Amino acid sequence: MTLDSLKRAAAEEALGLVRDGMVLGLGTGSTVRHLVDALAEALDDGRLKDIVGVPTSTRTEAQARSLGVPLAALDTHPTLDLTIDGADEVDPQLDLIKGLGAALLREKMVAQASQRLVIISDDSKLVERLGQKAPLPVEVVDWALDAQSAFLSGLGADVSLRVDRDGAPIRSDNGNVFLDARFEGGLPDPVELERALLYRAGVVDTGLFLGMADTAFIASEDGVTALHRPGGAS
Ligand code: A5P
Repeated sequence: MTLDSLKRAAAEEALGLVRDGMVLGLGTGSTVRHLVDALAEALDDGRLKDIVGVPTSTRTEAQARSLGVPLAALDTHPTLDLTIDGADEVDPQLDLIKGLGAALLREKMVAQASQRLVIISDDSKLVERLGQKAPLPVEVVDWALDAQSAFLSGLGADVSLRVDRDGAPIRSDNGNVFLDARFEGGLPDPVELERALLYRAGVVDTGLFLGMADTAFIASEDGVTALHRPGGAS
């Protein structure tokens, strides 16, 4: 199976949780692209109706709009039934690293407004410890970046500003930039790290999604496995 077909399989499994009339958070990334495609197909052929999507990025918004998926804003729909999103790393407690696709802030805002957060991914994203494979994206305001970088280094990270092929900083939909923080061997203490980062002025948010995901559909060559966080919504 190709990586793309694994992503599609995870997306289709999650679509099975969507019911008529739901307000649905739409994540961001290459896996969610498949979800939006599958959702549009289900709306077209009548398997689903009366769905309103709340997109977490301008990219997802543009795709959903082009496929005729009805959309709304978080302002008018502050409580969502379900959000389906991708992830960059998933640990055994379903804690996550997200944000390599530059959409973490809106993703976290929409996830926090949702009664249930479901993650779709292939099994390459599974880790024993967060930060083992992916850097931790930290969204920061575009001012005094060297000072912020030094602060992250002081926490033990190897830090780089995320840039595009031309060397220009990659910006979020909110106009901020990203410092990617790599911790040798993984994050020592994600809860403490999140606390320290969110107390730091100039840090807008981080890619740590702790205790937020309820379910993860993980696609592998053997099929799609559902993982559940103990005590999570179902
Ligand atoms: C977007 O900023 C990220 O949080 C994505 O959800 C994450 O990078 C997963 O993307 P893929 O589905 O493309 O791996």
